[in-house]
Amino acid sequence: MIYQVYPRSFRDSNGDGIGDLRGVIEGLPYLSSLGIDAIWLSPFYKTPNKDGGYDVADPRDVDPMFGTVKDAEDLITSAHDAGLRVIFDIVPNHFSSEHIWFQKALNSLPGSSERARFHFFDGRGVDGNEPPNNWNSLFNGPSWSRVIEADGKPGQWYLHLFDSSQPDLNWDNPEVHEDFIKTLRFWLDRGVDGFRIDVAHGLAKDEILKDHRDPAGLTQALRLDLPGMSKEVRAGLLSDVPFFDREGVHAIYKDWRKVIDEYDGDRMTVAEAFVYPSSRQTRYVRPGELHQIFNFDFLATDWEASALREAAERSITEMNEIGASPTWALDNHDSPRLVSRVKDPAKARAFALFSQALPGSQYIYQGEELGLIDGELSPSDRQDPAFIRSGGADIGRDGARVPLPWKADEKYFGFSNGGSWLPQMDSYKNYAMDVEEKDPASFLNLYRSSLALRKQHAGLGGDSGITWHEAPEGILYFSRAAGFVLLANTTDKSIEITLPKPAMILLQSQGGASLTGSVVTVPANTTLWLQQ
Ligand code: NOJ
Repeated sequence: MIYQVYPRSFRDSNGDGIGDLRGVIEGLPYLSSLGIDAIWLSPFYKTPNKDGGYDVADPRDVDPMFGTVKDAEDLITSAHDAGLRVIFDIVPNHFSSEHIWFQKALNSLPGSSERARFHFFDGRGVDGNEPPNNWNSLFNGPSWSRVIEADGKPGQWYLHLFDSSQPDLNWDNPEVHEDFIKTLRFWLDRGVDGFRIDVAHGLAKDEILKDHRDPAGLTQALRLDLPGMSKEVRAGLLSDVPFFDREGVHAIYKDWRKVIDEYDGDRMTVAEAFVYPSSRQTRYVRPGELHQIFNFDFLATDWEASALREAAERSITEMNEIGASPTWALDNHDSPRLVSRVKDPAKARAFALFSQALPGSQYIYQGEELGLIDGELSPSDRQDPAFIRSGGADIGRDGARVPLPWKADEKYFGFSNGGSWLPQMDSYKNYAMDVEEKDPASFLNLYRSSLALRKQHAGLGGDSGITWHEAPEGILYFSRAAGFVLLANTTDKSIEITLPKPAMILLQSQGGASLTGSVVTVPANTTLWLQQ
């Protein structure tokens, strides 16, 4: 059970309105009270913060906004003392344009070794006025920007799959490999337990000057929130992305794995990699490569029995084939919060208990355990480059990044005593940890109970098997080892089910279930954990 901390919005220790590493240290008692095993921190490295820190200007230094390297070291030690492991984010697809390498590249000549660390090319068309190929940025607009050369004239173009402040690194260059190994070791030497690898499928680009046959379609397909594209068309476009999932990425992770394995303890890696079809995910977790890969299926699956079962079965089967652990996530800093997405706290609670009962690792995004909703923000508050580059057509991800409410009656709800970099809504008061602590029926107490049970119950957690049983339409029904049974009713009507044996209720996502012998009544939109 891994809890994602988005440091900027977790807890602010110095009153500047921005969360920081000391704030995470202060929050450790709360984190360990949840019953999680590890925390994963989104980037806190030196950054101009054009993309929430995923624009790294020095991966071996901490941005003053977040603290110091000493704070990062203290955080690792304090988390270990609290029994929690620590995973850092590593961002190898791109650097910030403020990284010294890119600054040097800008001040060097075309063809220089400084430029060879990135993807610099001459443009096409008259005077090289057009980008070298037709690829679009994932944040909208072209994925190339043109630089001004020493003579004051527009010159070469550089590739940026994300914002223009995030130039892509050239992984054909051994210097890039060496630098990342140095970064891995820098943090491993300081005791970090693992890495979450950003855009892990993007590093190798083997056909960089080749146009894509349908750049506009591809841009749409990459935005999973956009309706109006058939599953088949999307699948076709996504299985053929010229800048993703190339064979070359695997050699990189084999090297990284060797480095990780040199260190003591149980250190791990998890890939953020959107690859299609999903069966290609297994290639990232082959023996000798990475340990886990995120499975984002649930972020785009409705609370609907057949779709959920299909998504769960597919991932379990695929990961089993390769001997890797499946992973599950209901939200993260890039997607709408679960309650806002499914638009119903009851469904969200039921979804969480369904997901947490599956074999494998569960990733929880900060605030999910409070049932927090997305913040409503005015356009002038928004900072996400996806919002800015699309002129607001893409609402962006700021809604899920609004700082956490700790205390209902304090200013900024206890997140900070001096401000909040994104404004919190008044309603966040109702989700404050101190309010939820006292309410036995709160989201927080549901998560605490479920996480405690996951630790105690021999059939839960871990990778032990799962057996699906036939059930009426709209019902999910499976069992696991040691007599664990899950029943989830995804419909709006209560339903009665007769189990083969008498059972007892271990946990319910909301009240109202009843059980007489082996006859269970499962209320609408409710998940039950049972012992048989
Ligand atoms: C994925 C990260 O989760 C996201 O926040 C970021 O914008 C992109 N990668 C680019 O680094």
